[in-house]
Order: sequence, then structure tokens, then C-alpha cells
Amino acid sequence: MRDYRGRVVAITGAGSGIGRSLACRLAYQGARLALSDINADAVAATARECQLRRAADVEHFALDVSDRDAVYAHADAVADRLGAVHLVINNAGVAVHAGVRAMTDEDMAWIMDINFWGVVHGTRAFLPHLIASGSGQVANVSSVFGLISAPKDSAYNASKFAVRGFTESLRQELRIERQPVSVSCVHPGGIKTAIARTARVGDGDDQAAVAALFDRVALTTPDSAARTIIAGLRRDRARILVGPDAWAIAALPRLLGARYSFAVEKAARLLSV
Ligand SMILES: NC(=O)c1ccc[n+]([C@@H]2O[C@H](COP(=O)([O-])OP(=O)(O)OC[C@H]3O[C@@H](n4cnc5c(N)ncnc54)[C@H](O)[C@@H]3O)[C@@H](O)[C@H]2O)c1
Repeated sequence: MRDYRGRVVAITGAGSGIGRSLACRLAYQGARLALSDINADAVAATARECQLRRAADVEHFALDVSDRDAVYAHADAVADRLGAVHLVINNAGVAVHAGVRAMTDEDMAWIMDINFWGVVHGTRAFLPHLIASGSGQVANVSSVFGLISAPKDSAYNASKFAVRGFTESLRQELRIERQPVSVSCVHPGGIKTAIARTARVGDGDDQAAVAALFDRVALTTPDSAARTIIAGLRRDRARILVGPDAWAIAALPRLLGARYSFAVEKAARLLSV
């Protein structure tokens, strides 16, 4: 089992939710942290919280993961400031809840630039540093919506299926090459974070109603999610399911094949999604 004491861990989207909880737990375990977020004040607050838990090395950075050049410069800066990088958690993400016809091209580009390209940039920029460390890890955050699709989530589904495809292929590639880097794909179920409140919604959808429905169905706290993710990473799990709903959802396509869609349609009608 891996031990993160003294190890350098980079986390994107560390200003809120799952990223903030991962940072706090890893700080407590003695990791040396490079925290980043597009929201500079939020990530500074996370860094302060980590330092309260343990006086470890915690650096924080303002970073937009969709800015390719900035992500590559960030990876180099982290290695310069903290030394060998052992784990990158590509966690930053956003949501769009909108029907295919109601959604703008701009919404689609926005979510793909952050959720998909942000993961690609974060992975590729850190890979040379992870390989150089001799014992590296990549953790890319997908979703249960990278395992099944749901109505009005086509853009989010597309981004998270893409993260899963990219991540699983990378894992195979690095294992075949016997590189010293393991790769995990993380699939959270509903986690009680701000993600639905900052989501973009389509014309005709009510943002407050979307957030209220999310608050009703999200079962897992960010701290509990962080505990599960770190436990999976310590064991180098290829797929990390987070929350009881994630286990149930992952079973749907396994048991029903493509017919899982009927179950999703039924649930969506009941919840008036
Ligand atoms: N909350 C859930 O139910 C849930 C379920 C499945 C997957 N996820 C995934 O977990 C990850 C974390 O989400 P969360 O629920 O903690 O949400 P959150 O909104 O609480 O946190 C997301 C963080 O990402 C940051 N961010 C947004 N755009 C960014 C950008 N361009 N560059 C850098 N940072 C940016 C935000 O400022 C925020 O601090 C996301 O990838 C999300 O898709 C969440």
C-alpha cells in the first residue's frame, strides 16, 4: 500500500468540494501539496485549512486547467518548488444541465475544455515528472456519468466518458511499457458539493430547481468521498467508485447492457428531470 507521507501531490480544483477534502486529508497524512484552482481566494483558503491540520509544505496556485500553456508551466513550477512529483489528481470540473437542443456550442466547448482537456493537459504535463519520480500516480476524476448516460446531461456525459476512455487507455499503455506510473479513474456518485449550484443550465431549466434536486440525491459528504478516493489510490485501483449510489449505478450497464437506459428514463420521469 502506498503511503503519502513526504510525497508531493498536485491537486487541481482544490478550492472546493472533493478537491478541498482530498487536500485536507492528504495534508493530515503528511503529504506535501501543490494545490491549484481557477479561484485564487478559494484555493488560498484550502491551503490555510491544510496548514491548520498539519504544518506541512503547502503551495497554492491560481490555475485555469483549460489553459494548456499555463498547465505545463504549472507542472514545471511544482517540480521546481517541491521536487519530485508523485501524484497528480486531475479533479477540477464543472457541469452543464441542458437538453441537446437547448445547449449552446459555447456551453459544450466550456465543459469539454475544463472537464476533458483539463484532464488531458494535467496528465501530459505532469507525466514526465511522475516518471522521473520513479513511483508516480495519475488520478483522473470522471463520474458515474462516465459509466452511464442521463437525459439533459449529454455534455457532462461526453466529457466524463472521454475522461474514462483517455484514462483507461493511458493505464494500459503505461503498464505495457512498464513505466513506474500507475493510473486510476475515479467515478463519484452524488457528492454534496457546490457543483450543481455553479452548473450552467439550458433555457427553460431552473438553476435553483436543478441544485435543489441535486442536494436531495447527493448522499455522500466530500470528506467521505476523499477517504474512499485515497483508500483506492493507496491500493492502485484502476477504477475507484465513490459512494453507495456509484456502486449501484456501475452495476446497471453490467447487468442490463444497453437496456440500462430504460431504468434511467424511468428514474428521470419520476424525478421530473
Ligand atoms: N459532486 C458530485 O456529485 C460529483 C459527482 C461526480 C463527479 N464529480 C467530479 O468531481 C470533481 C470535483 O467536483 P466537486 O463536486 O468537488 O465540485 P466543486 O464545484 O465543489 O469544485 C470544483 C472546483 O473546480 C474549480 N474549477 C472550475 N473550473 C476550473 C478551471 N477551469 N480550472 C481550475 N479549476 C476550476 C472550481 O473553482 C471549484 O473549486 C469534478 O470533476 C466533478 O465533475 C463530482
